[in-house]
Amino acid sequence: MKYNIALIPGDGIGPDIVREACRALDAVGLRFGHAFVYTEVLAGGAAIDSTGHPLPEETLETCKKADAVLLGAVGGPKWDTLPGSLRPEKALLGLRGGMQVYANLRPALMLKQLADACPLKPEVIGDGLDILIIRELTGGIYFGDRGRSDDNRSAWDTEAYSWDEIARIIKIGFESALKRKKRLCVVDKANILETSRLWREVAESMKHNYPEVVLSYMYVDNAAMQLVRNPGQFDVIATSNMFGDILSDEASQITGSIGMLASASLGDSGPGLYEPIHGSAPDIAGQDKANPLATILSCAMMLRYSFNLEKEAWTIERAVERVLDDGWRTGDIAGTSVGSLGDKLVGTTKMGDLIVDAIGKV
Ligand code: IPM
Ligand code: MG
Repeated sequence: MKYNIALIPGDGIGPDIVREACRALDAVGLRFGHAFVYTEVLAGGAAIDSTGHPLPEETLETCKKADAVLLGAVGGPKWDTLPGSLRPEKALLGLRGGMQVYANLRPALMLKQLADACPLKPEVIGDGLDILIIRELTGGIYFGDRGRSDDNRSAWDTEAYSWDEIARIIKIGFESALKRKKRLCVVDKANILETSRLWREVAESMKHNYPEVVLSYMYVDNAAMQLVRNPGQFDVIATSNMFGDILSDEASQITGSIGMLASASLGDSGPGLYEPIHGSAPDIAGQDKANPLATILSCAMMLRYSFNLEKEAWTIERAVERVLDDGWRTGDIAGTSVGSLGDKLVGTTKMGDLIVDAIGKV
């Protein structure tokens, strides 16, 4: 079968990691008889440099027509002084909004091979970490009305949510929980925010459809604390755009490195958008130092969610584990090999070679 993938390498380490992710996909294609056809498009700083706009119309059109989209990372100091509407990050929001991928799935899974990279004490982390954060992605304060007063001495951003925008996230929350440990925690700030109170109302109105799932609520400030105090209490977290942005970075650190975490952004129909949750790390761009595993694991999510290729997704995930089992590490996860193996420090390309090799064997 042939799959059309729109590729947005983006800025900084984006091209480095996307290159390795495509090699991993091609290795899967070779092994299982699929063809992945890539169409590269511009977004972020690279697009600003060549077209003057962070998200050219052509990019969005190509992405909407693809079977799935793979994105590296966007942004960098070069474009930091541009006005808000012209910053590279605007491309991300434009893509998410334009593709209508409203649900952002961010699994924070601590691999046992990287347990030493976890900053929490062993008695706190217990059996490890396996949380799925479902972040609302096309609404809330990141998409709300914003502006400045005429005298430029005040500014505002607005959080707004409709019942339907919330319900489609809560539904995914319940359905994901059913496939996991059957616990859904809605994270909000319902002691202050009216939108949060609506999130709770929506969740309450839906819970009778999922009697097997234990539904709970937690204020976001408490959740930030509980994540480092007792992370094992969480299974699935459903939350707003901003709270999900913040909590997913926190959760990633508990797993050892933000360089390991994948994400999938999904809508009702149409292509999904897959990207690592980390940024463009301009300081190490083009130096063969970046960890490509988060992007490679994002491809596994693509195979699973967009193409329904479970065996192929599993193969990528096992290949990553096998390479880590053998002690291979990029710089961000160095110093974590267990036992007598010792780390074998490698760069981006070599890590890609190892994954390609393992995909053929696992
Ligand atoms: C993320 C990033 C983006 C976001 C930024 C770069 C706009 O932090 O994907 O989490 O806030 O969504
Ligand atoms: Mg973020």
